[in-house]
Amino acid sequence: MPLVCCNFSENRININLYPRLKLCIEYIITIICWGLQTRVYTIIFLILGRVAWKQKQYRYSVYVYPHIPAELLEAHLYIQRSPKLVLHQSKPDCIYDEILNNTDPRLNWEASKKIDDFSANGLVNGSYAPEHCNALFSVAIIVPFKNRHRHLDIFLPYMHNFLRKQDIHYRLYVIEQQDEKIFNKGILFNVGVKTAMLHKFPCIILHDVDLLPLNTTNLYVCTNEPRHMSIGIDKYRFMLQYEDLIGGVVALKTEQYVAMNGYSNRFHGWGGEDDDFYHRLAPQKLTLVRSHVEMTRYTMLGHPQERLNSNRYKIMRDNNKRGFIRDGLSTLPNVSARISNHPLFTLVGVQL
Ligand code: UDP
Ligand code: BGC
Ligand code: MN
Repeated sequence: MPLVCCNFSENRININLYPRLKLCIEYIITIICWGLQTRVYTIIFLILGRVAWKQKQYRYSVYVYPHIPAELLEAHLYIQRSPKLVLHQSKPDCIYDEILNNTDPRLNWEASKKIDDFSANGLVNGSYAPEHCNALFSVAIIVPFKNRHRHLDIFLPYMHNFLRKQDIHYRLYVIEQQDEKIFNKGILFNVGVKTAMLHKFPCIILHDVDLLPLNTTNLYVCTNEPRHMSIGIDKYRFMLQYEDLIGGVVALKTEQYVAMNGYSNRFHGWGGEDDDFYHRLAPQKLTLVRSHVEMTRYTMLGHPQERLNSNRYKIMRDNNKRGFIRDGLSTLPNVSARISNHPLFTLVGVQL
């Protein structure tokens, strides 16, 4: 027993120490080696586990999915301006052919990722309308936000550079949850759409703050049917994660959002609220459309995974069973919402 060597008792005082010491050292080395080996096995096990999990996710991902062919997209566009947009009789209507028919859909301009060297030309409270023509589309872009300032600083200049080239009338709303409670994306979207309705926007785009569009042909307007826009995200190898996915970036008519009773107010934390929103389409006889992935690539800014909402499947089942009329835009809880204007965005500060 090697431990004997560390436990000298009186009657062992004459024992030759050397072989025991050697044995003791060997024993310690064995323990260290065993510990290291276990660590190595654990690390290998964790790596294999992660690879298997990723492969499982990619099994459901698709690159080819039903979509509106590029040449037919124009016929699907929902042409509607906000009555608040001031039109100039002397100017022609804007033309969108160049964007839609761009044969080189890759990003072909340098979008600044720094807020400091960005010019806010033409922007008032995050709103923009082209000078040289009358826009045919008015779009409210609604960004749910909490504690992602690093992303917002990149998102704002990038998006304005991207959008100002599209000759559309748009306004960017940042809906910020300003309390310490768990993030609730659904409530923020509902508050955001209500605000956009005050400004009479006929079309809304619900937009994650960490997604940046990469294709110039990705026109930020509504189609007649709700349209999922963030299909090919670099994080997911530019593949659609699953066919029912509606999260990320989605464009729909304001009246469709109202008919669907908006987003659920019941999801706190990560996951499920967008799947619940997807389930609200069918009862309104709406189907989700998409454009070709070559027109709808995005890059996602890095961030750690948010805390999962372990109740998400239960709430989804519950809402599916009870119908969506009891939970949504019409039952928005009494939250405090303060609107304030900044050059690059309209801020709606929300306290749940
Ligand atoms: N978000 C936020 N703060 C949070 C969690 C989410 O601002 O603490 C917003 C943000 O717009 C983000 C979006 O909700 O892009 C989606 O959340 P997240 O990026 O965590 O989910 P993912 O789509 O990456 O799984
Ligand atoms: C979640 C959604 C999320 C999607 C893509 C689903 O499992 O429920 O909320 O958008 O995964 O990450
Ligand atoms: Mn994200």
